[in-house]
Amino acid sequence: MLDSNFLNETFSDLVKYANTPSEKVINYQTASNLKQKFNNFEVKENSSSQADIKDFIKKYLNYSVNTGSNQFFNQLFAGRNEFGILAEMLSSFTNSSMYTFEMAPVATLIELKMLELIANKSGFTNFEGKFVSGGSHANLAAMMVARNLADEQIKKSGISDKKLVAFASEDSHYSYSKGANILGIGINNVIKIKADAQGKMIPEELEKAIKKVIANNQTPFFIGATAGTTVFGAFDDLSALSKIAKKYKVWFHVDGAFGGPVIFSENHSKLISGLDMTNSFSIDFHKILGAPLTCSAILINGQKGILKEVFDNGEGTNYIFHDSENSSYDLGPLSLQCGRKVDVLKLYFLFLYYGLDGVSDKISDLFNSASYAKQKVIELGNLSLVFPGEFLTICFQYIPKFIDDQKTINEFNFKLRQKLLESGLSMVNQSNKNGKQFIRLVTVNFDLTKEDLDLFFTHLITIAKKLENEY
Ligand SMILES: Cc1ncc(COP(=O)(O)O)c(C=O)c1O
Repeated sequence: MLDSNFLNETFSDLVKYANTPSEKVINYQTASNLKQKFNNFEVKENSSSQADIKDFIKKYLNYSVNTGSNQFFNQLFAGRNEFGILAEMLSSFTNSSMYTFEMAPVATLIELKMLELIANKSGFTNFEGKFVSGGSHANLAAMMVARNLADEQIKKSGISDKKLVAFASEDSHYSYSKGANILGIGINNVIKIKADAQGKMIPEELEKAIKKVIANNQTPFFIGATAGTTVFGAFDDLSALSKIAKKYKVWFHVDGAFGGPVIFSENHSKLISGLDMTNSFSIDFHKILGAPLTCSAILINGQKGILKEVFDNGEGTNYIFHDSENSSYDLGPLSLQCGRKVDVLKLYFLFLYYGLDGVSDKISDLFNSASYAKQKVIELGNLSLVFPGEFLTICFQYIPKFIDDQKTINEFNFKLRQKLLESGLSMVNQSNKNGKQFIRLVTVNFDLTKEDLDLFFTHLITIAKKLENEY
């Protein structure tokens, strides 16, 4: 029996935590301080009391990053909502696994329905798909399909002497290289293609690189485009790239971990036009759609059946997969995982809460927040936009008074971000490109207001002014 008092009280404490606006996003500590505060996380021989556990939870919350705070701009996810928490709880309470219909009958049917919805919005036909543990896993799965199609004996006999080469934009996510490492392709065999001033992979450069690879007797097997690059939020030109993919018969994948959900937006789906011409598509719902981590899928276009062909070993599975009237619904054979959490509920609950129109409106709100933040950067005298941006990241530098060499400006911005982090008032990330160190502000929180953004800039500029005095 569950202890309802204990659970109810704890849950109510958690809700109180979530609903109490805190002044700090993070109570910044060094790792060694934290170890001290938690007695180095030693486990005891005897059990802890409920009071001890409650104390621990309080302390855990105190020192964890409050990603639900409206001053949290650090990652491509942010915010906290009932739909996600409830779905996550339902998944934990039922504690099942997605490998068979027998074990997850309702969730399996929901997953299939959600895949159909994503496929329809993507313009995919004769499609299939699966939910996976994140966008990196989705990209890996797409690369694995492409690899096995390009080297047909690899599944059974291992890597041949065929030299497979993948292509992705220089601004693409590092998961493509991780995938190449895992799949025996080699990270040097992911050729990084130059991006233009808008951050989009340059089609002519891609074609040049493919020709060079062919001339070297290597085999181009995978083009990884991106819909919403991690730092600049750029959308590659899928129509132009797909023509090249077709010409050279190369698998064409789109990483939509960040920007993929624009398929649900009435106003912004044009950013991802040409998606229907691609072979596969990764999409995360735990980034801009606010589902708790993780909730991701990979969709395959026009090749229903390929996932089972690539991922199913067909051996040693009769302890789990049994013939029955429902066994055609089993999702395990399509997966790299055995046990798999029920993540799809988080997407389904998003639609239960908002409906398709509401989700489209929420995406518009995120774009409005980005426009507002960008306008602030333009209007505030000390800030300088480093990238035009068409999505939900705003990349800018603070230009300190009397300093005009880029090296010092870079160093200043690096320190500024660190000082802001240590203050705990707002949390924002940074990156660098083309010799510039800059701040990347992300507007992916459904609850963000103009006042929250104003407050962020106030925090940033106040700290920057103090730092300026040190120069
Ligand atoms: C463009 C892009 N692709 C893939 C990923 C990886 O997604 P995940 O963190 O869900 O593995 C990210 C993460 O930020 C991303 O920005």
